[in-house]
Amino acid sequence: MGRAVKRIVYSEAQIAARVHELGEEITRFYPDGELLVLGLLKGSFIFLSDLVRQIRRSLQVDFLVAASYGDGTVSSGLVRLLYDPETTLEGKHILLVEDIVDTGRTLNRLLELLQQRSPRSLEICALLHKHIADELRYPTRFVGFDAPNEFLVGYGLDHAENFRHIPYIASLQ
Ligand code: IMP
Ligand code: MG
Repeated sequence: MGRAVKRIVYSEAQIAARVHELGEEITRFYPDGELLVLGLLKGSFIFLSDLVRQIRRSLQVDFLVAASYGDGTVSSGLVRLLYDPETTLEGKHILLVEDIVDTGRTLNRLLELLQQRSPRSLEICALLHKHIADELRYPTRFVGFDAPNEFLVGYGLDHAENFRHIPYIASLQ
């Protein structure tokens, strides 16, 4: 059977407190203009739903579905969009919400694609950042936690599609 979680890395209470702070940071960062919060599925679905409820300004929500070629645990950097947001991006502040930045390859490719749609601004909000992403060519403006270099699951993050529903973040055995 599947693997078991080894250790709780971020508890529900820690996550809730940090998401609240991020919401305040984001609210302050966008004093005007239209804000479109773009969640990268599937990993960001729980984070995004908690985060937008902590942002005190008007906003819209849409999603992106990207697929890396291959299904390994190692990122290939070859990304294609399976679902493209229907909302227009032009002239809007775009906040791309990602679960975790590992190598940064997925984000590099996505940001190239999104930049072509002429947004007013384009920023990244990642719940977790492993800081080994020497390949990421864009700054990660908002980061929840500087994560240890372990494989993490829960709060949206999966291992082979399991563990996404766990309300805290844990490392795998
Ligand atoms: P990158 O392109 O290497 O930055 O890969 C980022 C993607 O890999 C994330 O959106 C996750 O889907 C996945 N990923 C990277 N590290 C982890 C982890 O520790 N747990 C679960 N998924 C991860
Ligand atoms: Mg994943």
